[in-house]
Amino acid sequence: MIITGGTGFIGQLVARAILRRGSLLVHQPSGIEAEAEVSEVVLADVGRPPQLMFAELEDSSACTVRLGDISDPLFCRSLFEGAKGPVSLFHFGAVMSGQGEDDFDLVMRVNLHGTLNLLEAARQCGATRPRFIMASAGATLGSGAPTDYVDKNDTVGDWTRATPHTSYGMTKACAELLLSDFSRRGFVDGRACRLPSVVVRAGAPNAATTGAFSSVVREPLAGLDTTSNIGPDVGATPRARGCHPMSMPMPMPMCQGLPPPTCSRAPRLARCATPSLGTAPPWHRCSDCTSSPRRV
Ligand SMILES: NC(=O)c1ccc[n+]([C@@H]2O[C@H](COP(=O)([O-])OP(=O)(O)OC[C@H]3O[C@@H](n4cnc5c(N)ncnc54)[C@H](O)[C@@H]3O)[C@@H](O)[C@H]2O)c1
Repeated sequence: MIITGGTGFIGQLVARAILRRGSLLVHQPSGIEAEAEVSEVVLADVGRPPQLMFAELEDSSACTVRLGDISDPLFCRSLFEGAKGPVSLFHFGAVMSGQGEDDFDLVMRVNLHGTLNLLEAARQCGATRPRFIMASAGATLGSGAPTDYVDKNDTVGDWTRATPHTSYGMTKACAELLLSDFSRRGFVDGRACRLPSVVVRAGAPNAATTGAFSSVVREPLAGLDTTSNIGPDVGATPRARGCHPMSMPMPMPMCQGLPPPTCSRAPRLARCATPSLGTAPPWHRCSDCTSSPRRV
């Protein structure tokens, strides 16, 4: 089992959840789907922190870190080499929204070409229809422009068409379409989960534009000042609800057991069930804020 972005925040949470679970639903060579024991968890990432978040990951002999860049097709192919039996991939490695707006070439290389490299590597690896679970994002959706599918008062669902307003959102929407077609053709068995913002995200802030949702809680608790890029005039902000980090490990491994999409539809999009907030929090676009930062 491979996790890209494996030493990142969600990657580590999911790795721990899967190690604890011990098995995943896979396609056997016979075509039958069955639970198979997870023999190895590979955390694939461009870097790794000196210490992983969980001792369980550091101590587990089944868990290894492989350093490399998913924009390199050879690295992606090497991840599948030596796998005996079924393979599942959880794809979280990505350039975040803020960094993607600053560096178009990078977000294209990593988020779009990197996803295609992984899909091709999974297709060619020899295993029967590898499970390919991918983190998409609320950023695939946009509102406020006349051509957008939803306005700020709508609740979005699996049926909502992607109209991204950022290069990050665009690459995630393209990745959903690629996953859908690779699945339709039977090369992989794909699931995409459009994650809302995860709050409060632990650790250092990352380069996501929605990082402010976490920062305004996390930094003051640590006695630090922070600035928010969300202006008080952004009406949708209070209604934008995120996903609690503790709910993350559950939906992502569960995605691999969702029914497959039918051939004419996009990959099934799972919404996070957040026990403390109720299920399927409505997602309202809130990253179109242009107001000046304010100190809290
Ligand atoms: N956290 C959120 O609020 C949120 C919301 C929506 C979607 N997502 C998506 O979930 C996934 C994980 O997010 P996260 O919060 O854990 O972020 P994170 O920044 O903690 O993890 C991302 C990981 O990807 C790795 N990475 C970046 N470029 C890479 C490359 N070229 N090759 C290999 N690895 C690379 C980074 O080193 C990092 O460890 C991402 O795909 C993100 O777009 C997250």
